[in-house]
Amino acid sequence: MKLVVAYIRHDAFEPIRSELLELGFPSMTITDVKGSGRQKGITESYRGASVTNYLRPKLKIECAVADGDVQTIVDTILKHARTGNVGDGKIFVTAIEQAYRIRTGESGEETLQAHPDAAEAVNG
Ligand SMILES: Nc1ncnc2c1ncn2[C@@H]1O[C@H](COP(=O)(O)OP(=O)(O)OP(=O)(O)O)[C@@H](O)[C@H]1O
Ligand SMILES: [Mg+2]
Repeated sequence: MKLVVAYIRHDAFEPIRSELLELGFPSMTITDVKGSGRQKGITESYRGASVTNYLRPKLKIECAVADGDVQTIVDTILKHARTGNVGDGKIFVTAIEQAYRIRTGESGEETLQAHPDAAEAVNG
């Protein structure tokens, strides 16, 4: 199991969410974050003064998946988040030791994404 963590521009999120849902990956967490890449800061003029913003707003996506699904998730994020401009973002992949579905006590890969024939109400 792996955790795919991506820092992207906000406007890339909707196409990513929509395609991941179609591909059978509805489960994710998103967080509004601020970050900086290697440009360190962007200097803008504000009321005549030069102001450097070191942090830019980004969206963090966390998506826990089976090892065999990592490339699909990464490819989907790359496809929609890449504009070719600096600040497009980063993707990190880390190992997950274990996962549990709290409701049932199940553990392992079957807890991570949608069951192929699941037709459950959208409630969480
Ligand atoms: N090494 C890192 N560790 C943690 N977060 C990072 C790291 N690099 C980038 N980020 C996050 O990703 C966001 C976007 O980074 P960004 O795309 O500017 O990376 P970059 O390395 O500067 O590449 P580019 O030259 O394409 O801009 C940052 O604002 C930050 O939230
Ligand atoms: Mg950058």
